[in-house]
Amino acid sequence: MLSPLLFASGLATLLTPSDAAETVLGAYIFHRHGDRSAKSTPPTSLTTLGYQQVYTSGQYYRSRYVNGSSQIKDLSSDSVKLSQLSVTAPVDNVLQSSAMGFLQGLYPPVDTVQTLGNGTKVEAPLNGYQLIPVNTIDAGTGSEDNGWLQDASGCQNAKWSSNKYFESSEYQELLSGTKDFYKKLLPVVKNTFEENDVTFKNAYVVYDLLNVAKIHNSSIPSSEILTDAIFAQTRTLADAHEWGLAYNSSDNMRAVTGMQLAGEILKYMNNTIASGQAGKTSNKLGVQFGAYATFMSFFGLANMPKVNADFMGMPDYASSMVFELFTDSEVKDGEFPASKDLQVRFLFHNGTASASSEPEVYPLFGSSSKSLSWEDFSDGLNKFAILTTEEWCNKCGNKDGPCAAYAETAASTQADNGSKGSGHGMSAAVGGVIGAMITLAVVLGSLAAVMLLGGLRLVPKRVLVRPEVTEKA
Ligand SMILES: *[C@@H]1O[C@H](CO)[C@@H](O)[C@H](O)[C@H]1NC(C)=O
Ligand SMILES: *[C@@H]1O[C@H](CO)[C@@H](O)[C@H](O)[C@H]1NC(C)=O
Ligand SMILES: *[C@@H]1O[C@H](CO)[C@@H](O)[C@H](O)[C@H]1NC(C)=O
Ligand SMILES: *[C@@H]1O[C@H](CO)[C@@H](O)[C@H](O)[C@H]1NC(C)=O
Ligand SMILES: *[C@@H]1O[C@H](CO)[C@@H](O)[C@H](O)[C@H]1NC(C)=O
Ligand SMILES: *[C@@H]1O[C@H](CO)[C@@H](O)[C@H](O)[C@H]1NC(C)=O
Ligand SMILES: *[C@@H]1O[C@H](CO)[C@@H](O)[C@H](O)[C@H]1NC(C)=O
Repeated sequence: MLSPLLFASGLATLLTPSDAAETVLGAYIFHRHGDRSAKSTPPTSLTTLGYQQVYTSGQYYRSRYVNGSSQIKDLSSDSVKLSQLSVTAPVDNVLQSSAMGFLQGLYPPVDTVQTLGNGTKVEAPLNGYQLIPVNTIDAGTGSEDNGWLQDASGCQNAKWSSNKYFESSEYQELLSGTKDFYKKLLPVVKNTFEENDVTFKNAYVVYDLLNVAKIHNSSIPSSEILTDAIFAQTRTLADAHEWGLAYNSSDNMRAVTGMQLAGEILKYMNNTIASGQAGKTSNKLGVQFGAYATFMSFFGLANMPKVNADFMGMPDYASSMVFELFTDSEVKDGEFPASKDLQVRFLFHNGTASASSEPEVYPLFGSSSKSLSWEDFSDGLNKFAILTTEEWCNKCGNKDGPCAAYAETAASTQADNGSKGSGHGMSAAVGGVIGAMITLAVVLGSLAAVMLLGGLRLVPKRVLVRPEVTEKA
């Protein structure tokens, strides 16, 4: 039972002036897909577990922003208003399905009956299931997989940078230092990998195979070897491997997906503000689905490991991060605060968010402040955000496809100052070597397909020579 005193102090916390005055005005969510699973043939799909994860997360964000305590001002709470929402995901079955599952939780069915001109009543199918388009992302090159550009989008300089990881001393040390560890693991994964490939070089795919097998209770050969401690070690090694590919503090190009995400966040939130200040109620909530590597690249760029070293680890399935636009000043109906009165906070949740396990606030950019003024926030993101295709083309050093339009200008600029340009450009000879490496490199997407082709069992041996392994979905 609550003592009267406790009760009173509880009330006091509930009613502190700052709580009472805060108004949330918009948000941008970046979300990882849920647990992904097997079909006997591609395309891969979300598992039931994955569906449940993203749906639960959607329900959580509904309770937070759509009809709950931190409801975004003027956001429609039952019937979706499409102008208020932007939902994007790359062309990818797992990510598109994840977005849809999330939306079912965010805007559940609303019983709708329409009366036609002739008096007939029409009822919406599926109890009023709300149809919300998930748009494909066409930032940068119009890549099919904005989630992990290194391989999927063809940002040359990002690939080049990531491949440099394999030359670093950090990588070489881990490669030689873990030889025995992976050798001992061989009996567990030997049905899937050639002996030579079971090394730190393939840390992620080895871990991923085991992770999927464990979640779905597949039969694992020599499973007695795979103790919890050994499994945890495979994860830690995969974390180091993926971090190395996603971010390098002295070479931002590696984190190109994080830069693009930053650009998308800025543009969307800028629209939230511009629309609001123009008296409109559109562009309130942005939701994007993508891969863990984008989280890692962004975490590196935003200096999150300074706050907590866990940010260097891969986020779990259905993880989400949120940029919340709010104000402490009073907002009257039909009004929107001036830009100087706007603030942003950053939240992250590792794995599925729910009422019993909510996202937490973390300071951005290595600061100690749990919220930033809009100006400081946008300045901070602008330091690395890629906002236009032209910028992307220049940074990536790409000259064909959608970049052809800018190649001319870039070339004449280079001729003018007789330099190599961005400093990330590569000579033809180096390009050739890298090209060869990249040919060997296959995104996890294809590997997942290989794995999933065999169902959730550890699949028959395939040729898996992968110096660089990154996740597609
Ligand atoms: C919010 O929406 C959910 C799902 O439709 C519903 O169960 C809940 O009662 C609503 N909460 C409020 C405060 O309206
Ligand atoms: C009313 O209009 C709808 C749509 O044109 C049609 O399907 C329906 O049969 C009409 N009902 C009557 C009673 O005419
Ligand atoms: C990070 O980049 C620098 C500069 O290109 C390079 O010397 C270093 O080896 C890289 N480190 C890793 C871990 O990739
Ligand atoms: C998981 O696998 C073990 C051992 O094969 C088996 O005993 C157990 O019933 C399985 N559980 C499920 C849920 O299939
Ligand atoms: C944000 O909007 C302002 C005008 O409202 C514009 O000048 C600025 O370029 C926009 N920034 C971005 C990143 O879109
Ligand atoms: C998320 O959890 C995983 C373990 O499940 C951990 O390795 C990783 O570092 C965590 N990330 C963050 C940002 O907490
Ligand atoms: C090359 O010239 C352009 C414009 O003339 C300038 O913006 C750029 O900074 C120069 N780059 C170098 C490396 O000097």
